[in-house]
Amino acid sequence: MCGIIGYIGNREKKEILLDGLKELEYRGYDSAGISILSNNELFTFKTTGKLINLETKCKDFTSNGFGIAIGHTRWATHGKATEINAHPHSSEESSIVHNGIIENYLEIKNELENKGWTFLSQTDTEVIVHLFEENLKSVENPLSAFKKTIDRLNGSYAILLITKKAPDRIFYAKNGSPLLIGINGDEVFFASSSTPLIGLVKEVCYLEDGDNGYINKDNFKTLKNVQPMNGEKISSQKDGYRYFMEKEIYEQHRILQDTIRGRILNDGISLELPSNFIDNINRITICACGTSYHAGLSAKYLFEREAKIKTNVIIASEFRYSNPIMEKDELFIVISQSGETADTLEALKLANKNNLKTLAICNVENSSIVREAKYSLLTRAGIEKGVASTKAFSSQVMLLWILGIYIAQNKNNISKDSIQKQIKNMYNSLKATKVNTKIHDRLKKLSKRYLHGHGFFFIGRDVFYPLALEGALKLKEISYLHAEGYPGGEMKHGPIALADSELFCVSLMPKHLLYEKIKNNTEELSTRDATICVISQECSDVADDVVLIDKYESYMEEFFAMMIVVQILALEIAIRLGNDVDMPRNLAKSVTVE
Ligand code: F6R
Repeated sequence: MCGIIGYIGNREKKEILLDGLKELEYRGYDSAGISILSNNELFTFKTTGKLINLETKCKDFTSNGFGIAIGHTRWATHGKATEINAHPHSSEESSIVHNGIIENYLEIKNELENKGWTFLSQTDTEVIVHLFEENLKSVENPLSAFKKTIDRLNGSYAILLITKKAPDRIFYAKNGSPLLIGINGDEVFFASSSTPLIGLVKEVCYLEDGDNGYINKDNFKTLKNVQPMNGEKISSQKDGYRYFMEKEIYEQHRILQDTIRGRILNDGISLELPSNFIDNINRITICACGTSYHAGLSAKYLFEREAKIKTNVIIASEFRYSNPIMEKDELFIVISQSGETADTLEALKLANKNNLKTLAICNVENSSIVREAKYSLLTRAGIEKGVASTKAFSSQVMLLWILGIYIAQNKNNISKDSIQKQIKNMYNSLKATKVNTKIHDRLKKLSKRYLHGHGFFFIGRDVFYPLALEGALKLKEISYLHAEGYPGGEMKHGPIALADSELFCVSLMPKHLLYEKIKNNTEELSTRDATICVISQECSDVADDVVLIDKYESYMEEFFAMMIVVQILALEIAIRLGNDVDMPRNLAKSVTVE
C-alpha cells in the first residue's frame, strides 16, 4: 500500500528518497514520485509503474547542499493509477504526499473550485495542498496555515508537506495512518514504516494520532518519546530462490523455531503474559483480516477443543460497524502480520474503548497494533516480503496453538500428559514444515494440469477448513484463478451444482481427523465428475491426482505439512501462468485504508 519517505539534510536527496521507496516497494504500489526543495527551487518527478521508471526519469537530476525532500509510492484508491494522480501533489509553491483517505475531500474541493483553484488529479490528496495555500492567504505563518488545513480534514492520514514559504522544514500530520520520524545526527528522516529507516537512523519517534507540526534542524531535539532504533536490515536477496514467496515458504521450519523459543518448556507452556492474564476470562473474540483471519479461524477449533473456551472469530471490517456486544469477561485478540491493517487497528481501538482485555498477535514490534493493544505476543517470523502471506500464517497458527494450550494449562482444563502430547505434536509440526523437495518437484509437474478450468474448490473439515480457505486465497492472489475454500460437508448444500470435469477440487484429507467424513465429501464431488486432487498421507481411489505427504502421527502435523503443499501448489501454478508472484496485481502488503 502507499509508502512515504521524507528527508531533511545535506545528502543527495534523490538517492535517499529512491532508496527508501525501494524498501517499501514490496508493500505494493502502482505509481511513485518525489519532490525536492533545494536552493528555493521545487522539483517534482512522477511516473506510473515500477520505481525504475522514476529512477530513469530523474537520472540527470542532482541536488547538492541542504534541502528538504518527500517521496511516495501510491496504491490507487481515488482515481486511476496515472502519472497525474501519483503523489506528490503540488500547488503553486508547495508539495504534499499523503497516505490514507480524506473523507470530506469533495466538499473541500467544491469550496476551493469556487474560489478559483484548479485541480489536475482525481485524488482526495490534492485538496490538502491547495487548501494549505488558500489558508496561507489569511493566516500569519505557514504553521498556522498547516494546522488550519489539518483541522479541516476528516478521515485517516499520514501527511508530509514542503513549501517554499518555509524551505527549512517538513510539515507533518498523523491520524490513523502510521508515520515515524528518524534521527541521525542533524539529519531527519520520515517514513510510513520502520523498514526504510533501519540502518539509517539511530533514534526514532513513532508519532501518535493527532500529532502535527513541523520539524527542522533546530527543533527535532524537542521531540518526545524518542527511542533507539532496533532491527536489522532485511535481506533483499532471494538467496537463490526464484521469488521471495518461495524463500519464505522454505524458511518456515526455521522461523517457527523462533516462534516457539522460550515458550515451549519441558514442563509446559510459558508466555510473556502476566500470571493472572486469563483470570476472569470466559470467552474469546478473535478479529483479523485475510490470512490472519484464517489463522484466527484455526485457533477457534484449537481453543474450543483444547482449552474449552468459547471463541468467536470475526473479520475486522465486519466487526467495526456491527454494534458488537462486548462482555467484561471477554479476551479480545487481534491478529496481524503487519500490525498496520486499518480495519484490525480500528476494531482493536473499539475493544479498548469498551475496556476489554486486548491482546495482539503480531509480527512487527512497535507497529500501531502492538502499541495500541494492552498485551502483545510477537510471531517472530521476520519481515515478510512476498505479498502473499506464508510464513506469517504458519507462525500465527503456531503461536495461537501455544496460546490455546497456555489457556488450557492456566485454567486447569488439561492434564499434564495431554500437555506433553501437545508439546510433542508442536515439535513434530515444526519439522513437518520443512519442504520435502520431492513433493515440491511433484507439485511443479502437477501444476501444468491445473491452469484452466472454471474454478477451484479447496475443501477441508475442522481446522482443515480454514486451511482450505487459506489455500484458495493463496491461489487466487497470485494465479488470478477463481478459487474458494469450503467446509467439506457444505458442498452438497449448493456449490456441488458447479461440479463437472472442469471444476478442480483440492481435498485436504488428514488421516487423524474426520478422515472418513472428508473422504465421503470428496467422493460426492468425484461422482459428479469434478477433477480431484487429494492431499493426504493415504492413497485415494477417488482422486485424479494424489499429493502424498509424509507419515505423521497427529492432525496438526498433517495441517502444517498440507499447508506447505497448498502454498507450493499456488506458487507453481502462478509461475507457470507467468505472473509476478511477489507483487501480484491490485494487491498491497499492508492495507492501511479501511
Ligand atoms: C494474504 C494476505 C492478506 C493479509 C491481510 C491482513 O496473503 O497477506 O490477506 O493477511 O491483508 O494483513 P495483516 O495480517 O498484516 O493484518
